[in-house]
Amino acid sequence: MSEKLWDGRFSEKTSRSVERFTSSIDIDNRLYPYDIEGSIAHCKTLAKAGIITEDESSTLVQGLGVVKREIAHGDFLFDDALEDIHMHIETRLLQEVGKVAQKLHTARSRNDQVALDVRMFLRDKTRQTISNLTTLCRTLIDMARVHMDVIMPGYTHLQHAQPVLFSHHLMAYYEMFKRDRDRFRDALERIDVMPLGAAALAGTTYPIDRHYTARLLEFSRVSPNSMDAVSDRDFILEYLAHASICMVHFSRLSEEIILWSSSEFNFIEVPDAFATGSSIMPQKKNPDVPELVRGKTGSVFGDLLSVLTLMKSLPLAYNRDMQEDKLPLFRSVDTLRNCIEIYIRMLPNIQVDKERMLQAASVGFLNATDLADYLVGKGMTFRKAHGCVGKAVGMAIQQGKELNELSLKELKNFSSLIEEDVFSFIAMDRMIGRRTSFGGTANQNV
Ligand code: ARG
Repeated sequence: MSEKLWDGRFSEKTSRSVERFTSSIDIDNRLYPYDIEGSIAHCKTLAKAGIITEDESSTLVQGLGVVKREIAHGDFLFDDALEDIHMHIETRLLQEVGKVAQKLHTARSRNDQVALDVRMFLRDKTRQTISNLTTLCRTLIDMARVHMDVIMPGYTHLQHAQPVLFSHHLMAYYEMFKRDRDRFRDALERIDVMPLGAAALAGTTYPIDRHYTARLLEFSRVSPNSMDAVSDRDFILEYLAHASICMVHFSRLSEEIILWSSSEFNFIEVPDAFATGSSIMPQKKNPDVPELVRGKTGSVFGDLLSVLTLMKSLPLAYNRDMQEDKLPLFRSVDTLRNCIEIYIRMLPNIQVDKERMLQAASVGFLNATDLADYLVGKGMTFRKAHGCVGKAVGMAIQQGKELNELSLKELKNFSSLIEEDVFSFIAMDRMIGRRTSFGGTANQNV
């Protein structure tokens, strides 16, 4: 009996350095529950087709259960010489149930086996991502509800623009994360395809019922082309692309949280439990969590680019290069999960300084557009009103005042249409309340 499951045609032993170099067990060991579940379904498919007996199938299924428990309990020895998780499980099964284990690999190859394992893994993880994003969206809604009365400056070009509800700002992120969730839902449809039975690349000569395997493993569809089944990884790319977009959203939110918690803004305070101090500057409280989320965004982009580059020139069908898909995939799945979970915990604990935000919204001429709207209401064209208000702003800057701090007499210099009612027109809550166009910041919309 040869030592390896594939070394029949070899006259020389594999060198130790090659074993170490080609081994992926350190990374793909986490596929073991999927590999075993897939093998159990494969046993049943083989038995249904009469390729092995029902007794043999039961022996194999029971043996696979033993191996699964051993790995779960950490009683399992991993060895580079056995390359990957598929070989480890099959080799251990052979020790456990004897020669019948040699029948397990009939009508399949590691090429369709690894495609199956990764699809099962990613199906689970995508469902988890979807559910975590749903929780995150709920967290944002709750936070928006708690802070319904908080007004902040809205920015464009990071310059004061118009006042908005803080809730409106938060709900913008809700929309982004909801779209992220929908993208993962959409991807799930294409992940949920059963590749087993494609064998090495061309399909198999054995009369297996692939749709039966798919039903056992709760797949919605069976891959219709065996070469595609073993050679494409676009479902991984899709996950990584969606994860990258989601991380862009996290990174932008993180950037805002970091800015808002600086002394220059002072809008919010990150909870102590989510910040750290400095080893030299005693006064420091650093927003490490959002900073790290912003930083980890780069590694998710990198993972997407790794797999894109990995796949771009591979001829059909399977190539060993593809073994390199797992590290970036696993890393990004974990990173995204960690980022979502930490945000779900951090967001509700952020302290919001309502007074400070309102004060910030009261300086910098955030009411200039509304003053122009006021003039339009009195019959002036918008372009003309824009010019009048621009001049008023210029004068206010010279005097070191806000528009609402100019007297009625001063304001009348810019247009005789301005009356006493202008001051209530450009009051903060009136400005917010008037933005009732669909999607605007008025309370009832938010
Ligand atoms: N460890 C391999 C991978 O992750 C499994 C498939 C190996 N197939 C092969 N023909 N050597 O891609």
